[in-house]
This record gives sequence, structure tokens and C-alpha cells, in this order.
Amino acid sequence: MSKLDNRKTEYISKIEKIKNPLDLDNIKTEIFGKNGFLTLEFKKLGNLPAEEKKAIALQLNKAKEDLTNFINKKTLDLSNKEIDQKLKNEKIDITLPGRTYFTGKIHPVSQVIDEVTSIFAEIGFSVEEGPDVESEYYNFSALNTPENHPARDMQDTFYLNHSKDLLLRTHTSPVQIRTMLKSKPPFKIIVPGRTYRCDSDQTHSPMFHQLEGLHIDENVNMGHLKGCLYYFVKKFFEIEKVKIRFRPSHFPFTEPSAEVDIGYKIKNGQIKIGEGDKWLEILGCGMVHPNVLKNVKVNTKQYQGYAFGVGLDRLAMLKYGINDLRAFFESDIRWLEFYGFDPLDVPTNYRGLSR
Ligand code: PHE
Repeated sequence: MSKLDNRKTEYISKIEKIKNPLDLDNIKTEIFGKNGFLTLEFKKLGNLPAEEKKAIALQLNKAKEDLTNFINKKTLDLSNKEIDQKLKNEKIDITLPGRTYFTGKIHPVSQVIDEVTSIFAEIGFSVEEGPDVESEYYNFSALNTPENHPARDMQDTFYLNHSKDLLLRTHTSPVQIRTMLKSKPPFKIIVPGRTYRCDSDQTHSPMFHQLEGLHIDENVNMGHLKGCLYYFVKKFFEIEKVKIRFRPSHFPFTEPSAEVDIGYKIKNGQIKIGEGDKWLEILGCGMVHPNVLKNVKVNTKQYQGYAFGVGLDRLAMLKYGINDLRAFFESDIRWLEFYGFDPLDVPTNYRGLSR
């Protein structure tokens, strides 16, 4: 066997033992690199006498071809092995039970805000917002609430400083003022938002939600107020024959003022809206007091209108049969799982998995 054949066999057995692409690369350099063994052999050709040259060149080319083929085969082997290993490592056991898919829930109050907003949007109301921290002026004075009115009492209002000029708004009505100061009549707005009063029992929470409504235009009268609220209650409770009554009341910022009660009865422990002879108060309303309009520079000879303030938490309790208001704000995830709503865009096949 020639010396060349020996080297070739030596390399082939080395290549056979190789386990990773890096070692294969090194061997390639050892053979074909700038100072590789075959490269040097080819270089030597030049110094050989012509008669030997041809035969040796033939042998060298043969060795080159054999080694190249062998290396190519090895490269393929290595990459196949790598793929096999990868497949083995990344194997997924499809017989394992799936992971439970938890979807979030919409809080009943958020759900009710969405429902109520879209009902009023249909009849031309647009949405306004205002800050939770209010000035005494917007919350009371501009709303024609006299200095000695009981609502201003420390007992009801959370004041934020000693001079009592900053407070947590006790109702959404200050947004009436903010909106009317900001632009010119007509106004047709609703204001959903958080409100605060120093009060806590089964039906009162220190933080609760209201929806303010305000409609000011040239010919708006109490008939419009009644029509609007009647329409709203029917739509919201999804009942055609709903019983509501307007009961005379008093608010400093409306004249005349009324409270609206909704008729209901308890049947098999369930509250039934629209039937029976029990009444539950759901909102306060009235024709906006001329003093309020004057405070925001609206011409009372030309414009008038109505306002109302609905308790949203109460609406949610009534519509969805929830009997303790405090649970609304305890952030108990089990409660939310039970009373919450599925987001509209959750694919239906995920729903069952959320409980
Ligand atoms: N702001 C009143 C309240 O919180 C409700 C109300 C709003 C009454 C608008 C009349 C007009 O009780």
C-alpha cells in the first residue's frame, strides 16, 4: 500500500469516529486547508519529473474524491443524528391532560356601565367624565347647594383638607357644571363614574357608582325627562311592561325634583322587576334649577332641561340578583367568577374551561 493510501485510510477511520460537526470541520482543514496534507501533496507535484507527475496526480485526485465523498456522507450523518436527537428531546406527550385556560371576567358594574352607556348612546347622549377628587365649588356651590345643606356635613362627605375645599365627589353632578362651562348649549350627556360617601351597610358602600344624565335644549320639558327614563328602564331591564313611579322629592340643583321608584316583587326568593306592589328607589332627577344654569352662564330664558342621577350598583344588584353591595368591592375572585361576565370576544370553546 502506498504512503498516500495509508494516510487516506488513517483519515477515513478518524472521520468515522467523529461525533460533532466542529471536529469534522477541523479534519477538513487538516486535509484540504492551506497547509492541509492533500494541499501540500498537490504542491509537491510541481517538483516531480514529468513521467511520475501524471500517475501521482491521478492518485491524488482519487484520494481527494474519496475523502470528499466520505466527508459529505459524514456531514449528512451528523445532521441526521442532530435532527433525531432534537425530535427525541422535544417530543410532546399528547396524552397529558391539557392546562386549564382561565379567562378573566367582567365585573357586573363594568357590564352595567357598558349596557347603560349603549342604551343612552342610541338616543343621542354622549359620554363625559370628570375627576373623583373635586372642588367644593363644583360638587356643591355651583350646584346651588347652600352652605348649611346636610349633604355637606362631615358625616357624608369625605373632605380631603381642613379648609374643606377639596373632597371626593359625592355624586356625578359636578360633571354637569364642568361640561356646561366647557362649551355652549345644547347639552345631551351622560356621565358614568365613581362617587364617595361616608356610608357602609348592605346597600351602601363608601365608594359606589352613579350615572349622571343632563339634557339642556330650547324646548326640553318634564315630559321628555319621563319619556327618557321610561325608555331607559324598559331597555335596561328588558321588560316591556315596567312599573315606575315619579315621587316628588328635593334636590338643591333641580326644581321640580323627583325620585323614581321601580315596582317589583319577590317570587320564590327571586326579585321580579316590573310586577308586584313593592317599590325600590333607583334614581333622582328633576328639571335643572335656573340658579345652576345661571352659574354656568346659560341663558335661562332660552334654555332649560332635565338631569338625573342613577345608582349603577343598585341597577346591577337588581338586574343580576346580587343581594350584598359590599361584595362588589371585596375583590374576591370566586365571587367574580360567579357573578362576572365573559368578555364578548372570548371564543366559545374556551368558556367552559374558565371555571
Ligand atoms: N346627584 C343626586 C344624588 O346623588 C342625583 C340627582 C342627579 C338628582 C341629577 C337630580 C338630578 O342623589
